[in-house]
Amino acid sequence: MSEAIDTTAGTTLENTAAPEFIRPGSEQDHSKKGPIPAASDVPLDEINPVWNRLFSENRMLEYFERLRREDPVHFNETEVAGRYWSLTRYDEIKAVDTDHKNFSSAHGITLGFPIDQPLPEGALDVSMFIAMDQPKHDVQRKTVSPVVSTRNLAGMEALIRERTCEVLDSLPEGETFDWVDTVSIELTTRMLATLFDFPYEDRAKLTRWSDVATAVPGGGVIDTEEQRREELIECLVCFTQIWEERKKNPTGDLVSMLAHGEDTKDMEPMEFLGNLILLIVGGNDTTRNSMSGGVLALNQFPSEYEKLKKDPSLIPNMVAEIIRWQTPLAYMRRTANNDCTIGGKDIKAGDQMLMWYLSGNRDESVFERGEDLIIDRQNARNHLSFGFGIHRCMGNRLAEMQLRVLWEEIMERFENIEVVGEVERTFSSFVKGYTSLPVRVTRK
Ligand code: HEM
Repeated sequence: MSEAIDTTAGTTLENTAAPEFIRPGSEQDHSKKGPIPAASDVPLDEINPVWNRLFSENRMLEYFERLRREDPVHFNETEVAGRYWSLTRYDEIKAVDTDHKNFSSAHGITLGFPIDQPLPEGALDVSMFIAMDQPKHDVQRKTVSPVVSTRNLAGMEALIRERTCEVLDSLPEGETFDWVDTVSIELTTRMLATLFDFPYEDRAKLTRWSDVATAVPGGGVIDTEEQRREELIECLVCFTQIWEERKKNPTGDLVSMLAHGEDTKDMEPMEFLGNLILLIVGGNDTTRNSMSGGVLALNQFPSEYEKLKKDPSLIPNMVAEIIRWQTPLAYMRRTANNDCTIGGKDIKAGDQMLMWYLSGNRDESVFERGEDLIIDRQNARNHLSFGFGIHRCMGNRLAEMQLRVLWEEIMERFENIEVVGEVERTFSSFVKGYTSLPVRVTRK
C-alpha cells in the first residue's frame, strides 16, 4: 500500500509500507539473550559496547573501564554496520572531535550502515546540520544559533523560572511520584514549546516525537521501523503547516528563523525534518535526563547533597558536574576521511569512529574518582558531554541555565528529594537516560 502525503510545501512524500531491517547497534539485542556477563569474563575482542541492554541494565561502565585500561582504541566489525572503532580515553576523543577536516560528520552521528552501501529500503534518510560538514554545516548553524544568543537567553530566564516554579509548586508532598514524567519531561517540553512557539496545549507531541526519533523498535516506545517513519512524517506535516504560517507572520521562534533564513528557506522536506528532529532531540532528551540524573546522583552521593544544602552557591559548578556525570549522549560518531593511525591502531578511510564521551568523562587521568559526583570538582567544566570543535553543542548555555534555575528553585523549596524505588533506564546506547525515577519530596 502506498499513500502520498502532501506536506503543503509543494513537495510530495511517498509513505510506502517498508520492510523491517536491523538497525546498526541493535545486533546484540537480537543475538545475545540471558544475563550480561561480567566485563572481565568476556574475551577482549568480543567486547562490543554498542549494546542497548548494557545501558538499560546499567552495566556499561565496567566495560568502558576495561576498554580504557586494556584497549582504548577498540575495534569491532559487524555485518550490519561494517568496521568501527570505540575511542574510550579523553585525549583521543577530544583529538578526533576537534579534527573535522579528517573526521567527517556527514555520514551520520550514530553508528550507521557502511558508507559505501545504499540505505536499506524503509530507512528514513533525513539530513540535519549536526550531520554535515563545512561549509553547509556552518551556514545552517549560523541561521538558527541566534535563538540561543546571550541576549535571547537572558530574555528567556524569567519565563524558565516562572515555569519551573509552577511545576515545583504543584508537586505532591508525602506521596511517591515519577520525577521523570512530572518534572523533567514537563519542564523540557514547556521549554521546547517556547523555542518553537508550538501550540502550548499540544506540547506533549514534541515529547513523543523526540522519544520516537531516537527509539529502537521493541524498546518500549515504538514497535516497528514503519511506525517510527509514520510518526516522524506526522511531525514533518505538522511543522510544515507551522512553517507556512511563520513564512507569512514570523514570530522570532526557531521555525521562523529557518523559514526566513537565506540559506535555509529552500530546504528539502527531509532536511527540514532532520533539523527539526535535531532541535527537538537536542533540547529535550539531553536536558531532561540531566534533570533526572542530578536527583539520582545526589541520592547516590548523600555527602554531596549535604554539601549543596550548606552552600547553594555551588549550583553552577554542580550543574557542569551533573552533565559530566550523566553524559546524556553517550557517544557521537565521526567517519575517517583518510587512512590514519590513532593510539597505534591503523584506521582505514571509511571506518566509523565512536567517541565515547561517557567513558572519556570517567577517564581517571583527567577526572579523579571519575565515577563519583563531586559537586565542587575543580575541572568539572572540562567534561566532554557537549563535544568540542565545530559541532560543539549549540544549546549548552540554555541547558545549563535550565538546570541552574531548576536547582536554585529546588533548594528554595525542598528539604529533601529522596529516590524511593527502582530506577528505569532508557534502552539505548546513544541516549543515556531514565524512563522512571520514583521520588518523594519534603518541603522546607
Ligand atoms: C545537557 C544538555 C545537552 C547535552 C549533553 C548536549 C549534547 C550535545 C552533543 C554531544 C552535541 C554534538 C557535539 C559534537 O559532535 O561535537 C550536541 C550538538 C547540538 N546540540 Fe546539544 N546538548 C544538550 C542540550 C541542547 C539544547 C538545550 C539544545 C537546543 C537548542 C541543543 C542543540 C544542539 C544542536 C543544534 C547541536 C548541533 C550543533 C552542530 O552540529 O553544530 N542541545 N549537543
